[in-house]
Amino acid sequence: MKTWIGIGLFIVLGMFAAFVIGFRPHFAESLPIDDEQMGLKDRIVIKFSHVVAENTPKGLAAAHFARLVKELSDDRVEIQVFPNGLLYSGDTEFAALQSGAVQIIAPSFSNMSEIDPTWLVMDLPFAFSDQQAVYAALHGELGRRLLGTLNAHKVRGEAFWANGFKQMTSSVRPLRVPDDFRNQTFRIQPSQMLVSQFQALGASTVKIPFNETYGLLKDNAADGQENTISNIATKRLYQVQNYMTVSNHGYLGYVVLFNQKFWADLPPDVQRLLQQALEETTVWLQQESASMHEKQLRELEEIDGFTIHKLTAKERQQWIRKLEPLYDQYEQIIGTGLMSEIGRPK
Ligand code: SIN
Repeated sequence: MKTWIGIGLFIVLGMFAAFVIGFRPHFAESLPIDDEQMGLKDRIVIKFSHVVAENTPKGLAAAHFARLVKELSDDRVEIQVFPNGLLYSGDTEFAALQSGAVQIIAPSFSNMSEIDPTWLVMDLPFAFSDQQAVYAALHGELGRRLLGTLNAHKVRGEAFWANGFKQMTSSVRPLRVPDDFRNQTFRIQPSQMLVSQFQALGASTVKIPFNETYGLLKDNAADGQENTISNIATKRLYQVQNYMTVSNHGYLGYVVLFNQKFWADLPPDVQRLLQQALEETTVWLQQESASMHEKQLRELEEIDGFTIHKLTAKERQQWIRKLEPLYDQYEQIIGTGLMSEIGRPK
């Protein structure tokens, strides 16, 4: 009896297997669908390229944003983050975005000044007294005007991300008063304003991508550079520099850009969830970057052979007096309307 049941079961299973294997092409639509396969078909993959380390404000924000998008979209949208200039450097990422080779980048304001000179406004020395002043400006008329420059370049700006204020470093001598800059060479980001800033201080500049800065300083091809505490700490620039002045003389922030056509082709619900994730990340980053800088400044203070000086109020006034002529020099280029939004340094 058992033998007959076994044979019967064998025949039934065999017929079922033949049916599934043999007739699959005709009946594929009616077969149970594998969830993961459906996920692959519907999945939206977005490549996000940037040039800094993963443990910097921008690196952490990119990862935070990717996590939020995954959660909010129920894994339907994937943000693939490529840090450290793995795909493109600061020099090449904008063209990569325009061509659609990547869909998101977050260039610094200085880098954007090469695309449109209006962005030079963000590099004016001592333009912002503190972080709140930066946020207020970016969320007001100044931010609106900056985003308005992007249409012509087929990209879309969706958020401003914070890093922080820049500090000066040098391997030659402490930078206390403007004269201390004389005859030194400083690595800068691409920005005509930064060229003028160091010229006014009697120094010269070399413009190279961020990822080559450590090597440049190590080889003594430049004496110093300016950057945020997080970029100085994570790129270990303190190993190749002897002095840092906490000067807060300039601001380093980012604009999060999408390829315009890619954005326009996204379903509206995906656009909305990307905007939600960006807004949440922007707020999160404001807290995160401030506490990161405090912690990293304390760590830098512990490093032997790396001397930190905090600019006094009197020294700050000397730097301001030396650099204020840039406000007149750049008024025509930036536009009087925008310059009046900024005012003069105090
Ligand atoms: C960045 O923070 O994106 C780069 C900064 C630099 O080039 O100095």
